[in-house]
Order: sequence, then structure tokens, then C-alpha cells
Amino acid sequence: MTLDTLSARAASASLPFGALAAQPADALLSLIALYRADDRPQKIDLGVGVFRNDAGDTPVMRAVKAAEAVLLETQVTKSYLGAEGDAAYTALLAGIVFGDRTAGERLNGVQTPGGTGALRLGAELVARANREARVWIGTPTWPNHAPIFAEAGLSTRSHRFYDAVSGRIDFDAMLNDLAEARAGDILLLHGCCHNPTGSAFTPEQWLAVSDLCAARGLIPFIDLAYQGLGDGLAEDAAATRMIVDALPAALVAYSGDKNFGLYRERVGALWALSANGAIAERVRTNMLSLARSLWSMPPDHGAAIVRTILENDALRADWRDELDAMRARLNGLRAALAAMHSRLAPIADQRGMFAMLPLTHEAVAALREEHGIYMAGNGRINIAGLRADTVAVFAQALRPHLHAGEGGP
Ligand SMILES: Cc1ncc(COP(=O)(O)O)c(C=O)c1O
Repeated sequence: MTLDTLSARAASASLPFGALAAQPADALLSLIALYRADDRPQKIDLGVGVFRNDAGDTPVMRAVKAAEAVLLETQVTKSYLGAEGDAAYTALLAGIVFGDRTAGERLNGVQTPGGTGALRLGAELVARANREARVWIGTPTWPNHAPIFAEAGLSTRSHRFYDAVSGRIDFDAMLNDLAEARAGDILLLHGCCHNPTGSAFTPEQWLAVSDLCAARGLIPFIDLAYQGLGDGLAEDAAATRMIVDALPAALVAYSGDKNFGLYRERVGALWALSANGAIAERVRTNMLSLARSLWSMPPDHGAAIVRTILENDALRADWRDELDAMRARLNGLRAALAAMHSRLAPIADQRGMFAMLPLTHEAVAALREEHGIYMAGNGRINIAGLRADTVAVFAQALRPHLHAGEGGP
């Protein structure tokens, strides 16, 4: 900050809002502006985290269009729903997330505005229950995680879990760092398709995480934002289901914005698992009172679309087909990119929309300036931004910036 800006701030500090410091622009949104201004026809956008088809579009899914037509015909009121949102939507979605298991009266869900709303509501619930709880977050993660918990008044702690050099999970480092976690602390976990690394725990590692939570009294807070975009709907929820079966308490924040392609409609839900029915009932009323003061009630349209799809067998089947095709596209691109260089090999085993390439900030800038390839500053790429015919072009541009490991081509 320059002296001029400092003295301008000091002079205005006594004015209403004058004490506020300017906040940096969202890095990914700035990247979109740079990409739009680039007139090179061969430019490649791997920045923004939305699914794209082979034509580079993020289309409205077929089942969504059909459900919207149904709603247009059948919806007779836009009158208020309660703070819990559309209970039928949350119940149908629970079937997708938790399968046929019923944690009975111990598991409560409410509709939220997207996964972000679910995370924030969960953070507020934790803060109201135990202000001393610390939230353990693996690095790297989605950049919004730490601010969501911090804005709810909770303190956050980082732990390692990923080795950026090998592109693999470093589970020992994670266990080492979590040795400092205390009973009542929260452990934030990506249920599948980790953003940004694409890395995943093995089933054995998930069991170890669950055992650790049980032994140390930690509460897992699972962020499930990409169900169905990794290995399949049931497969991507397996870790969440195992944790709900095994532990007395957990939180699950869900985003349906990616797997239903409903991003701007803000589709989400928060589930809380409590030790017994009496506590669960208190948790439920607290979720509702917090939601009431945060957004009063969640927006309806996206959730109504999801409910309409899930309650209609034909629409549900069509949604699953299209989701399967989206997943196949991502995993096909992963395999193709991974085959291009030994340093890219882990990408084949990773899942979801993202991968984090072993690139310096300088390399990311050089790729943008010299080749019109746009990605986040930490080397995160949106796999769906690639196409069958640009994978090789991309890999060729990357080659000078990748330092081949032993035996690399
Ligand atoms: C890991 C993760 N969690 C949650 C979200 C939030 O999703 P939503 O857009 O539904 O708020 C995102 C969105 O990018 C995400 O990547």
C-alpha cells in the first residue's frame, strides 16, 4: 500500500464506512476478463470452474429443460416456503446422497442456496454450538473455504494432505498435522473430486480418517460438490455414507449446481448428523433459525427443477445418462492428458473437474502470454476446458515448464 493510500484511508477513517479496506478482486473473475480481451483464435480457457462440452459450451441439461417446462405448466403459486425450503426436494436428494440408509431421526437436512450456503449455514451452526471449535482445512483447497468459516467467527487451521511434487496424497503428513486437533474441532473434507487437486483418499485412508475422528472426537464436515462427476453417483458418495454410518456426528454440505448444471440457480442442502434424536431436534431448530437470519428462505427455482427431475423416472434416467456422459468426457480427457508426460501421469487417477499442474506462477503467466492458455495462478486447470483436439496442443505448450521425473518422456 502506498503512503498516499494510507493517508487517504487515515483521513476518511472517521467517515461512515471510511475504515473499510478495499478488497482484492476475485482472481478467477479477473482471469475471465483477460480471456475475453484476448483475440487469439486458438486461446484456451482452463480457468473458470464450470463443465464444458466438446464445443466449449456449458449447456442447460436436457432433463433440466424438460423439468422447467413441467414447472411452467404445473406451478400454481410462488408463495413463500419456510426456512427449510422444499422438504420434498431435500428428501429426494437425500436418497441420491445417502442411498437407502436412513440415519432415522438423527439426520436432518435443509435446502440451502448452493453449496456455499450449506457451508456457511454449517459454519454458523458450529459457531453457535461451540465457538472454540477450530476448523482444520487441508491445503490447497477451494479458496472460499477458509473465508466462509472465518466470517462465521471460527478460527481455521491448515493441514497438509497433498504432495504437489508427486501429485499424490501425503497421508502421513496429514496425520502428523492433525495430531494437534482437539475434541470438538471440525475436519473439513471433500467428499469426492477434490477442488483443486482432483486427488482422493483410498477407501482405507477414508476409514483411517473416520477412525481418527471417532478416537479424537473430531466432527467431519464433508463438502460434496461434485457427486457423479468422479466415478459415479454411488461411488462418489461412498465415503460420505461410510462416515454417516460410523460416527455420532457429522455435517454434509451439498452442491447440486455442478451435477445438475444449475450453477446460477443456487442448488444445495445441508445435512447434520447428531448423536441422538433429542440433540438432532435441537440442531434442526437451530439450522432453521440461522437460515432465517441468513436468507430467510432459499431460492426455489433450482430446487424445484431438481425435485421435478428426481420424482419423475424418465427425467431422472435422462439426467443420469447426461451426467454419465459428462463424467466420461472428463475421465477421457484425463487419460489423454496424463499420457502426454510423466509429470502429468497422476491426472489419470485423479477425478472431477480439476487438476493442479506442477507449474510456477511464472510458467502460468508465460503460458497465458505466449500461448493464450488461461488457468488459475496456482496451476489449477478445469479439465472440461480441454477438447480432444486441444489436449496435445496444451501438452506441447506445457512441456518446457514440466521438469520430467525419473524416466519421464
Ligand atoms: C469444493 C467446492 N465446494 C463448494 C462449492 C460451492 O458450490 P455452489 O456454487 O453450489 O455454491 C464449490 C464451487 O465451486 C466447490 O468447488
